[in-house]
Amino acid sequence: MSTRTWRLAAFAVVLAGAMIVLGSCKSSCPISGSNVAKQAMDIDVTTFGKSPDGKEVRLYTLRNTKGATATIMTYGAIVVSLEMPDSKGQMDDIVLGYDNLDGYLEVSPYFGAIVGRYGNRIGKGEFTLDGVTYKLATNDNANHLHGGIKGFDKVVWEDKPVWKADGVGVELSYLSKDGEEGYPGNLKATVTYLLTNKNELRIDYFATTDRATPVNLTHHGYFNLTGGERDILGHVLMLNADRFTPVDAGLIPTGELQPVAGTPMDFTKPTPIGERIEVDFEQLKLGGGYDHNWVLNRTGGGLSLAARVSEPTTGRVVEVWTTQPGVQFYAGNFLDGTITGKGGRGYQHRWGFCLETQHYPDSPNKPNFPSTILRPGERYETTTIYRFSAK
Ligand code: GLA
Repeated sequence: MSTRTWRLAAFAVVLAGAMIVLGSCKSSCPISGSNVAKQAMDIDVTTFGKSPDGKEVRLYTLRNTKGATATIMTYGAIVVSLEMPDSKGQMDDIVLGYDNLDGYLEVSPYFGAIVGRYGNRIGKGEFTLDGVTYKLATNDNANHLHGGIKGFDKVVWEDKPVWKADGVGVELSYLSKDGEEGYPGNLKATVTYLLTNKNELRIDYFATTDRATPVNLTHHGYFNLTGGERDILGHVLMLNADRFTPVDAGLIPTGELQPVAGTPMDFTKPTPIGERIEVDFEQLKLGGGYDHNWVLNRTGGGLSLAARVSEPTTGRVVEVWTTQPGVQFYAGNFLDGTITGKGGRGYQHRWGFCLETQHYPDSPNKPNFPSTILRPGERYETTTIYRFSAK
């Protein structure tokens, strides 16, 4: 196994008599109190295995000055682990996934991946653009889901390390060829993950095309702020959204933007995820729980707060900031204990939640939804930040 390591020793600072443990402080570094050690930012690259088509898959371990880490692999642009402190400074891995590449290759409900070319569903797997009807691969009954049979979550991305003054990251690039999964145009996509020294996971998405095509890229991380100790029903969620897009039985939006007021879809005030998930409400029945797109209350075109989730037993909090118009809140309803994830843990029903920032599902077939069409000469640029803290 080859290991290349970059270190920025200049960032190593010792505060208040703390020990310097460059590179050896793995998962329980002190982050508060008198023993505060500011560590070096660090990028470590190892081989994680081979993809089914024989390509090397690399694993980047990013470490910030607070000792938080993210591991990201080049297969699927997948965040394999994310260690963040709780209110006592205890680091835990707060995303679901597998210990090794084989797990991801065997079966994965998009754990930690970048999904594309079009995240979420396109009804009947077809759309008409500039008078031409395109037929996409269908992989969700008659519909197209998360880019099709071999979406961006199942390809090996090109990689390069990213050093910034405020964090370390990896830039991942993928050329999706004209016709792939039925989409028109060669799409060059770049996704940059940055683990900042403020305990943020920042994701910048960029793409260009040589023919008009729909594009909707998102991150499909499953979070469990307890560190995977129990289901996510006790997590308290706020969604900054007064409306959502109701769906039909195939989870395709009907086209309406429905007010959440007076329904169990209303998360404008912080509410435990489990409080109303089983109530008799048609949209919850259709989704098997929460699996819907919320229409974000936005001010202007920049980053705006989409969601905040806090976990009472650990004090961990994640805020989601995005330039996108929507967020898919998925409560892990399809998890049923058949998947054994990291550390041999069975991922039971609703063991993780996803907050997938996005354009609304099925936009290519919904003229009243904001457009997802990227044309030659245009730049697809979006940013989402998952900001972690503990209280
Ligand atoms: C998205 C979809 C869900 C499901 C999950 C993965 O959130 O909306 O229906 O496909 O991904 O299982």
